[in-house]
Amino acid sequence: MTTTLVTNIGSLVTNDPALGEGPLGLVEDAAVVMDGDRVTWVGPAAKAPAADAAYDAGGRALIPGFVDSHSHLVFAGDRTQEFNARMSGRSYTAGGIRTTVAATRSATDAQLEANLVRHLHEARRQGTTTFETKSGYGLTVEDEARALRIAAAHTDEVTYLGAHIVSPDYAEDPAAYVDLVTGEMLTACAPYARWVDVFCEKGAFDGDQARAILTAGKAAGLIPRIHANQLSFGPGVQLGVELGAASADHCTHLTDADVDALANSETVATLLPGAEFSTRAQWPDARRLLDAGATVALSTDCNPGSSYTSSMPFCIALAVRDMGMTPDEALWSATAGGARALRRTDIGALTPGARADLVLLDAPSHVHLAYRPGVPLVHAVWQRGERVV
Ligand code: NIG
Ligand code: FE
Repeated sequence: MTTTLVTNIGSLVTNDPALGEGPLGLVEDAAVVMDGDRVTWVGPAAKAPAADAAYDAGGRALIPGFVDSHSHLVFAGDRTQEFNARMSGRSYTAGGIRTTVAATRSATDAQLEANLVRHLHEARRQGTTTFETKSGYGLTVEDEARALRIAAAHTDEVTYLGAHIVSPDYAEDPAAYVDLVTGEMLTACAPYARWVDVFCEKGAFDGDQARAILTAGKAAGLIPRIHANQLSFGPGVQLGVELGAASADHCTHLTDADVDALANSETVATLLPGAEFSTRAQWPDARRLLDAGATVALSTDCNPGSSYTSSMPFCIALAVRDMGMTPDEALWSATAGGARALRRTDIGALTPGARADLVLLDAPSHVHLAYRPGVPLVHAVWQRGERVV
């Protein structure tokens, strides 16, 4: 294998306090050595070992690749009109999901895969090197299983979300749909998935239904995560904590007891500011969660309805401007926080042994991601040691 030295890094985020300054483990005038798909050395450029090849970073900032731990990318069609109506004053309801379900069901496998790949490339150009994605726009045994099969060809982080909303085919009998989701559909989907998820919300699934769905998923070997407390207060966050969910996602409407539950658990609070932006909703209070001691991740929630952005830098900018996060906290949450939400120790940090997922910014510091919102700052991306952008 050839080793590559990336040198003349103006500022390096390692996310390891033992390697540099502060919680981000910042090193100035730094270098990184990669061997194959792994990082083998990080430190001051002056002390870097020799390598087979060298890349001059030109004084730019280098950060770990973004870990987008929540997206819905197996879909067809778009919802431009719904967005337009919302921006003219209509409010967001989960009902729009049905529009995407109809479009997704009538798409071919090849169309769904091409759409997924198009969005993945879009995300990668913006620095995302790991992404999770979900089913949830099929809502039949076959359509959910094919969504997961297509997703699994492109990522290890695949989530079964047969319980996105009650299928329109079961509108008169939601209990029968829960039986399907916890029975035949789960059996067909589990082989392709690592995670099980449910949209716990008024108009989707209540606390008892969500409990049944996550419990059945666990029994089938999947690990729970949950769409919780997005549109209203509710039981989702505390249910997720109780069932050992890796992450409770959205967390927009939280009581003090919800915040305490998150702070005293391993469940990560994953905040999705693209959704509040695109639905003109109240921002999740990241400051309150961080001050209480919760672990916070940031993610795009990329989907055609509530948050049609694949941009982690955009989410970082929103989190800093409107959710009380510092630029350092937001960067950590978009990298190491996402890794925590996916229970991964090999990504989200640039330390010896970590996966060589590197993003070089056209900026002297990661702070520019929020300081220069909307500006395409990604200069180069290495994924598993391979230059991809
Ligand atoms: O995370 N909350 C539920 N699911 C998505 C929205 C999906 C849609 O509107 O199509 C979300 O925001
Ligand atoms: Fe979502």
